[in-house]
Amino acid sequence: MAQALPPLQPLLDEITEVARASENRGKVADYIPELAGVDPDQFGIAIARPGQPTVMAGDAQVPFSIQSVSKVFMLALALGKLGDRLWSRVGREPSGHSFDSMLLLELEKGYPRNPFINAGAIVTTDAVLQGATPRETLGALLRFIRAAAGDEAIHINERVARSEIATGHRNFALAHYLLSHGNLKNPPELTLGTYFHQCAVEMTCAQLANAGLFLVGGAGAPRLVSQARIRRINALMMTCGHYDGSGDYAFRVGLPGKSGVGGGILSVVPGVAAIAVWSPGLNHYGNSKLGTEAMEQLAARTGWSVF
Ligand code: DON
Repeated sequence: MAQALPPLQPLLDEITEVARASENRGKVADYIPELAGVDPDQFGIAIARPGQPTVMAGDAQVPFSIQSVSKVFMLALALGKLGDRLWSRVGREPSGHSFDSMLLLELEKGYPRNPFINAGAIVTTDAVLQGATPRETLGALLRFIRAAAGDEAIHINERVARSEIATGHRNFALAHYLLSHGNLKNPPELTLGTYFHQCAVEMTCAQLANAGLFLVGGAGAPRLVSQARIRRINALMMTCGHYDGSGDYAFRVGLPGKSGVGGGILSVVPGVAAIAVWSPGLNHYGNSKLGTEAMEQLAARTGWSVF
């Protein structure tokens, strides 16, 4: 028998209290200098459901850097532009390696495993950028995110983007390696400039949960992509959205999810809800430590799972 849904506001308040009291908060990403100074004590969570008010707790109205969560939105744009032709340039298998790994890219001749590891996301951005300028591409991305969230205030933090342009040596290495295999169509600095800016989109948990509604589907959700595409993006989030921690997230939470090194996670309960959680400290996979724990609690208490 289906589990009865508990009242969500007290549940989010309780999850926030537990997270706030937690002593082991993980480690804030410091390889992007502008993110190193983010206060690790912040925690926010929000649930958006089609046609219902957003429920939220903690620092759910504080903007944070969505980083790799942006890869979900760019993937939706790339599929809209190329359809299944995208898969000739990037795969759809979990990598089992860290998000910025070079290892498989060399073994597999410049064909990245999936659109969520950095190499695959760089190819995805490169595909959307082809035939357009970085400004147009980022404009299209912001239009998509703002339409999904129903919020025109969402913007890109230029300082975060610049901070990564100055220090993103691994991403430059990946881009040049892709270029050497003919799998980058624009100059590396243009594709990476676009990619770093997309990662520097700032959103609150409330905005991100609402933006995730386009992946929930059903009556009242914004219809920005087809139902078939919703299924496929969710499948990729489930199998690849947490990098080499994707199996662990599926085991503990049981929902499609996409993480970012800013400490945000977007998870989807198909047909029911989109959830955003944010806590800047990361686990050893580079995914939010308390965010994952909070999602595990929320899934257990609501019974929300795709299994
Ligand atoms: O390219 C990078 O390294 C960052 N802009 C994004 C990486 C990221 O968010 C990985 N997620 N956990």
